[in-house]
Amino acid sequence: MNVKIAGHAGFCYGVKRAVDIAMNIEKNNGIRAYTLGPLIHNPQMVELLKKEGLMPVDDLEGCKGKKIMIRTHGTAPANIVKAKEYKCSIIDATCPYVKKAQKAAEKLYMEGYAVFIVGESDHPEIKGIVGFAKGNATVLKDENEVPLLEDIHRIGLVAQTTISENIFAKVTRKIVPEVKELRVFNTICSATKNRQISAVNLSNKVDVMIVAGGRNSANTTRLAELCSQACKKAYHVETSEEIDPEWFLKDDTVGVTAGASTPDWIVKEVVGKLIKI
Ligand code: F3S
Repeated sequence: MNVKIAGHAGFCYGVKRAVDIAMNIEKNNGIRAYTLGPLIHNPQMVELLKKEGLMPVDDLEGCKGKKIMIRTHGTAPANIVKAKEYKCSIIDATCPYVKKAQKAAEKLYMEGYAVFIVGESDHPEIKGIVGFAKGNATVLKDENEVPLLEDIHRIGLVAQTTISENIFAKVTRKIVPEVKELRVFNTICSATKNRQISAVNLSNKVDVMIVAGGRNSANTTRLAELCSQACKKAYHVETSEEIDPEWFLKDDTVGVTAGASTPDWIVKEVVGKLIKI
C-alpha cells in the first residue's frame, strides 16, 4: 500500500496561533483560562488542552473575574461586553481572517446594506459575525436559501471563512440579477481553499481517501464531502483507531488529508496505522 499526504493538511495559521496563545497563558491553580466553547473543533485536542488547564464553558455565568479566552471562531460583541461587566480578563485568539469577516459585516450594516452571510447558521463563527451586524443579518446555507428580494435594493454579502467557494459563487450569481446594488466581501480564508484544492487533487489520484479530524469541525466535514465526490472510497475518521483494514486492497494508493483543526499527532497516528496495514 502506498500512502500520500495532501500538500495542505492539518493545523491552519489561526488554530496554531490560538493554541500557542493558550499555552502561553500562565497557570493559576492548574487553570490557564476558560474558553467560550471548545478552543478548536477537535475533541481529542480539546481533551488534551483540558489537562493543560484550558477549560471550555458554555456561557460566562460562573466566570466572574476569571480569564476568558475568545477562540478562533470569535464571538459576538455582546459576549465581550458581558465579560467586561463580569470583570473578566479577556484573551482574544479570534483568527485574524474571522475578524475580517466580522468587520465586513459590521461595516455593511453601518452603511445600510441588508447583510447576508453564506454559512451555517448554528456555527459559532456565524453567530459571532451576526452579532457584528447587530443581529440584523440573514444566514444562507446555499443558493437554494436565497429569499425573494423584491423589497431589498442594497445587499452586502459576507462568507463564513470555511465555506466552499463554489457555494459562495452560486449565491452571488443568484442575487446579482435581483438587486440594484450588491457588495461582496470574499471572506473565505485561503487555508480552507488550499486544503480543499489539495484534498480534491489527491482524491482524484488515489484509490482510498482518509480525512482526519473532528466530526464537529465544519471545515473537516466539508473536506470529507469534497473527497467523497472525487474518490469512490473516502472515509472521515477522528482517530487512527477508526481505520478498518477491510477498507483497503493490497495495492491501493491511499491519500490522507486533515482539517484545519486537526493536530499533527493525529495525522501522524493515521499515517502510522496505514503504513502498518
Ligand atoms: Fe483562521 Fe482560516 Fe484557520 S479562518 S482559523 S486560518 S481555517
